[in-house]
Amino acid sequence: MDIKALVSQMTLEEKAGLCSGDDFWHTKAVERLGIPRTMVSDGPHGLRKQSDKADHLGINDSIEAVCFPAASATAASFDPDLIREMGEALGDSCQHERVSVVLGPAVNIKRSPLCGRNFEYFSEDPYLAGKMCTAMIQGVQSRNIGTSIKHFALNSQEHRRMSSSSEADERTIREIYFPAFEMAVKEAQPWTVMCSYNKINGVYASEDPWLLTEVLRNEWGFEGYAVSDWGAVSDRVAGVAAGLDLEMPSSGGVNDRKIVEAVRAGKLDEKLVDQACERILNIVYRYLENARPDTPWDLEAQHEQAARIAADCMVLLKNEGNLLPLAKDGTVALIGEFAEKPRFQGGGSSHINSFRTTGAVEAAKAKGLQVTYAPGYSVEKDELTDERLAEAVSAAKAAKTAVVFAGLPDSYESEGYDRTHMRMPECQNRLIEAVAEANPNTVVVLHNGSPVEMPWIGKVKAVLEAYLGGQAVGEAAIRVLYGDVNPSGHLPESFPYQLEDNPSFLYYGGEGNRTEYREGVFVGYRYYDKKKMDVLFPFGYGLSYTSFAFSNLRLSTDSIRDTDVLTVSATVTNTGSRAGKAVAQLYVGDIESTPLRPLRELKGFCKVMLQPGESREVSFTLDKRSFAYWNEEIHDWHVETGDFTVEVGDSSRNLPLCMKVRVESTTELPRHFTADSIYLDVMADPKAKAIMTDFMKKTMEIFGHENESGGTEAAKEAISDEMTMAMMKYMPLRGILSFGGADSAGELEKLLQQLNSL
Ligand code: BGC
Repeated sequence: MDIKALVSQMTLEEKAGLCSGDDFWHTKAVERLGIPRTMVSDGPHGLRKQSDKADHLGINDSIEAVCFPAASATAASFDPDLIREMGEALGDSCQHERVSVVLGPAVNIKRSPLCGRNFEYFSEDPYLAGKMCTAMIQGVQSRNIGTSIKHFALNSQEHRRMSSSSEADERTIREIYFPAFEMAVKEAQPWTVMCSYNKINGVYASEDPWLLTEVLRNEWGFEGYAVSDWGAVSDRVAGVAAGLDLEMPSSGGVNDRKIVEAVRAGKLDEKLVDQACERILNIVYRYLENARPDTPWDLEAQHEQAARIAADCMVLLKNEGNLLPLAKDGTVALIGEFAEKPRFQGGGSSHINSFRTTGAVEAAKAKGLQVTYAPGYSVEKDELTDERLAEAVSAAKAAKTAVVFAGLPDSYESEGYDRTHMRMPECQNRLIEAVAEANPNTVVVLHNGSPVEMPWIGKVKAVLEAYLGGQAVGEAAIRVLYGDVNPSGHLPESFPYQLEDNPSFLYYGGEGNRTEYREGVFVGYRYYDKKKMDVLFPFGYGLSYTSFAFSNLRLSTDSIRDTDVLTVSATVTNTGSRAGKAVAQLYVGDIESTPLRPLRELKGFCKVMLQPGESREVSFTLDKRSFAYWNEEIHDWHVETGDFTVEVGDSSRNLPLCMKVRVESTTELPRHFTADSIYLDVMADPKAKAIMTDFMKKTMEIFGHENESGGTEAAKEAISDEMTMAMMKYMPLRGILSFGGADSAGELEKLLQQLNSL
């Protein structure tokens, strides 16, 4: 289809109209020109296709579909291939249902455990979030269905989500909040990008030219269309000018008319409207030309796939005395309402109408396992009746092992509002304590989209984090608990002991409509590691029923330039007696740096399946970005010359292998030395240092150190050369005038000329 030719035939009214939705879920048709409307739908961990009663909050029904694990869970798999496969399944469902674009993945950073939508987001780490969402996009788009990576950007809270301004410095935005979007755009080219509701440093994302054009298109090369989050448009004309192509759902024609008026009044260039239409139609026709509604959609097969994926996402947090896996011939009491009706997804626009849900009780019984069930707490209200408690305790006593299914009820965690604390309902905590007292072999299985406090952690023997694992999560949990699947998930976020430990604690939510991201780049483990703070469970952590050893770390060279790549390899060995999957993680740290940097940052990971006794080599490629920080002076990535650590292991706190590599920068930062520059900064620049000899000599003389062999005896006794240097380093160069008098003026001037012409 010749899109340009098509747009050239459209009237201004038709073009303005195309820039907003026809209804909640469709782009507009232009019948006169044979342009049909196309459908977009929510997800992204399944298909939420609505029919007549549309809403964006998950209130009204949608067609029956398969609910896969949410992003909080899939990120824990540390397995991009797995999530790519899930994306392919989702793409097939969309083809079958004639849905052109699925609205996801959602990749905002899990800044605080409080964000209501954390369950939909991948991680506190931008690299992990980036790798996982890229794989998901590639999976969906391999089926010629579009994705809409969202919510661009800095949408890490639900509190005042449509009015708050996320205030962050350039470096924090570039290092923490942008990279997942950037990686996805560069490596997977999502068909669409959805802007967020919030403002960024005072400007609505939906009308921010820096965000939607300068960065997204000019820097990263985005080629698709930018769509507003549902109802995110404030000033539509400013939005078109900024690069927001499609407004969803619509403004009932009000904003379309404003676009027409602005063009007629000469306030908006019609070419920008043409451009938006071209971008929208490119995607519309990309779908139409590749539509395959005859693609089969096998719900049953996808249910099994969802179980398999969910099992590989579960994170074994504790397993004292190898209580797990459970013996298949022992009696097990399954306790807690979630054992029967699991919490497997969150509330809001991502809510899938699952065609079937498998709870753990049903799954265990289907396998003929000897289980009993007691509901214990109620999910409806924070209540544990005496009767239910007694029933749970006696079930626990009668069984060899007790497994309590617990976590956050729907009302605790949803799109649209935030959590107010990090605790589980009190009734669940009480139940766990009582069960653990009744049976020393107590296991807790958790369903939650982000960290919870675990006041009972010392009293239970095992904990399995199942996150929101999709409609087959009960089946997956039984497979893992009984050892049919060896757990291999690792935490995509840190679990602090308490909310107050979280780096954003003091600022999260903000004041009124202003939320300052004051912790800067120190999000999650970047903060806990730098502070050497104990956490309940660290980022990247996860146990297995077998054990792994890491050895033989090798770097392709011990020194590179920042334009080179470094290859890192290591050996992972299964030292236990069961087959299992290990997750090798690679972190890079700048040993000494001018900017304040985290101790280590994840820059590579790799999941490998190993038979008992088997060893495999894993390898990683590091490039400039692996070592760089965002330099606000040059507005670019920059590597400071020096030594870096390369650490490998299986969590941010278990990194047995470490080597150093030297990285030489090939970019010189601009120099602007003035009389106010201090000695320390001038001497830190190798070229500047080289021409400082005379000036330094003069300075030393002023302080009584007349020559290289040491100056006067009295002065030497009072203060050594090292002490003089240590004191002098914070002095501005103009200090030579204050202490050496007017005579030194000529020397200072000469030095500055030399320095600034380097
Ligand atoms: C959500 C989006 C969603 C859209 C459409 C909005 O409220 O923030 O994630 O895709 O509604 O339902």
